[in-house]
Amino acid sequence: MMSKDAKIFIAGYEGMIGTALVRCLKTTGFNNLITISSSLLDLTNQSEVHKFFLQEVPEYVFLAPIKEGGILTNTNYPAELIYINLQIQSNLIHFSWEAKVKKLLFLGSSCIYPKFCPQPMKEKALLTGPMEPTNEAYAIAKIAGIKMCQAYNKQYNTNFISVIPTNIYGPYDNFDLKTSHVIPGLIRKFHQAKTRKDRQVIIWGTGNPRREFLFVDDFTNACIFLMNNNYNQSEMINVGYGKDVSIKELALKIKEITGFNGELIFDNTKPDGMPNKLLDISKINKLGWSAKTDLKKGLKKTYTWFKEIERLK
Ligand SMILES: NC(=O)c1ccc[n+]([C@@H]2O[C@H](COP(=O)([O-])OP(=O)(O)OC[C@H]3O[C@@H](n4cnc5c(N)ncnc54)[C@H](OP(=O)(O)O)[C@@H]3O)[C@@H](O)[C@H]2O)c1
Repeated sequence: MMSKDAKIFIAGYEGMIGTALVRCLKTTGFNNLITISSSLLDLTNQSEVHKFFLQEVPEYVFLAPIKEGGILTNTNYPAELIYINLQIQSNLIHFSWEAKVKKLLFLGSSCIYPKFCPQPMKEKALLTGPMEPTNEAYAIAKIAGIKMCQAYNKQYNTNFISVIPTNIYGPYDNFDLKTSHVIPGLIRKFHQAKTRKDRQVIIWGTGNPRREFLFVDDFTNACIFLMNNNYNQSEMINVGYGKDVSIKELALKIKEITGFNGELIFDNTKPDGMPNKLLDISKINKLGWSAKTDLKKGLKKTYTWFKEIERLK
């Protein structure tokens, strides 16, 4: 169990998951959180990260920073993605070991599983088949992070766990249409279309792929649950909602929530990505954790937050 005054470093605290982790840790009573802005500490900088760990000596580390950004970024900038992410995670994992961190949580991603992975995807399916090529650089960096945690546990007896989140959405997500994931991208598109009174919204792909989405507050609640000694194994563990929806079903829900009255057009010339993606979450369910926020409720909360941010602009 992490004590309420344990020194906890949330790396990447300005991102969607980092922000929610800080919020969730604070409301649960943790009062000794360490955060530092990416403008003050570039986590790719080995000597600066080393200095930071020597000064701060955290007891627990949540490793959330990432360089990423949807299908377009993954396709066009694979070199940047693999170089930056390998650097960030290597620095954080290595200096956590050196600082004798009691426990570290590394965030993987469901894109590490093979393209034609049997559904729902079990943890043991890792590296059993070829990956979706559009995700490869990002996925390989994530797999390296998981393997690095396992190697440190084996050789140095550390307690570094790896969590595999499904697609996460919620407040503080990236709503930039060029680099966003599907939910924030659709929310912005429908909101814009409604405001401009457009007749149509064009959606990439066929609308047939099925995806799983978990509200960010549920996800961070799971991370804290796992860090609180409910899980101390080297094997990675999936965290998801447990059910998937088609992109078409998702789009219809967002259309309803945003109040857009026009038509949906699916652009079949754009890539679909993996056909299906649903995590097998029986492992975390057996430990006693499950998600609380259904998709409609999570989307409503996200849209409320988005509208407020747009209003303040
Ligand atoms: N969101 C999802 O659906 C999802 C799904 C699976 C896994 N994950 C994993 O969960 C973690 C958090 O995701 P997220 O969605 O919260 O990401 P995010 O919103 O993009 O946040 C990433 C954070 O990392 C920081 N960062 C990037 N490069 C950095 C650097 N060189 N030095 C310091 N900070 C740096 C960013 O700061 P700047 O913006 O200032 O660069 C940002 O605050 C990641 O490991 C991601 O792979 C997320």
